[in-house]
Amino acid sequence: MYNFENFLLDNLPDAKSFHPFYEDALHAMLKAGGKRFRPKLLLGVVQSYNPLLMPNAMYAAAAIEIFHTYSLIHDDLPAMDNAPLRRGHQTLHVEYDEVTAILVGDALNTYAFELLSKAPFSDGIKIKLIQELALNGGASGMVLGQALDCYFENQPLELDKVKLLHVNKTAKLIAAALKMGAIIASDDKTAQILYDFGIKLGLLFQIQDDILDITQDDAQAGKTTNNDTSKNSFVTILGLEAAIQEADTLATELTDMMNDFDDKVYQNLSSLLTHYINRHKG
Ligand code: IPE
Ligand code: IPE
Ligand code: MG
Ligand code: MG
Ligand code: MG
Repeated sequence: MYNFENFLLDNLPDAKSFHPFYEDALHAMLKAGGKRFRPKLLLGVVQSYNPLLMPNAMYAAAAIEIFHTYSLIHDDLPAMDNAPLRRGHQTLHVEYDEVTAILVGDALNTYAFELLSKAPFSDGIKIKLIQELALNGGASGMVLGQALDCYFENQPLELDKVKLLHVNKTAKLIAAALKMGAIIASDDKTAQILYDFGIKLGLLFQIQDDILDITQDDAQAGKTTNNDTSKNSFVTILGLEAAIQEADTLATELTDMMNDFDDKVYQNLSSLLTHYINRHKG
């Protein structure tokens, strides 16, 4: 079985130079681990439809994880969430300096697309993958979500706006992971079904993250918690009880949707999805 962690380590960006720590910083947050939720989703879809494509799909799985890691490095910067801990390690602006954290984020963002451009797929598939990551991660996706998240600190928003913020900040990239798996498998119909499911799953994922921000400590989460008091998080807007209820409702809806997946997808993804759909209950 082709291993994602090995692929990632074998394909870290090469940046040797006389800089004393730039390359170490570039690799640090990728080596630090994380749940690898987005690559697991993408690979689960590919495994369902065409296991022979798994080695090639590693390029896309690594690209989305690298892109996500860039978003975390920038999310932790002093100008954004100002967090000192990530994936059980000091954040890059603390361990090294702010300039390095900014530039490493920039480099990982670009490198994700470099990796997609090198993937062993047809040019048509590669363009669709590049487009999907750009549309969902960029100006009208994750970056828009982060802009809303940061601009409206200390300004409580109405619930539908909070949901839109979360959909952009988090859900679109999670939906893109599922859709990219279907693009690799050349199944356009499934791509749309999985994308719509992924938006709801991603919204739940961020609500759970907001719940964990106040129910876990730094050591449990491996990142800075209790960090959302000024944010439009689900917990600050609704309160913990109602946020948990909202998560429960989404979890039930997603479980019902998952039961309608075709057998191959259900068999390959249901245990991963069930685990994450219910993670706030633990
Ligand atoms: C954290 O993402 C940021 C959110 C979008 C909630 P993850 O919870 O997937 O973080 P890692 O990748 O496991 O570190
Ligand atoms: C960040 O959301 C989502 C990203 C786009 C990185 P959070 O700010 O809640 O993520 P954590 O809690 O720091 O991981
Ligand atoms: Mg944030
Ligand atoms: Mg944060
Ligand atoms: Mg959070």
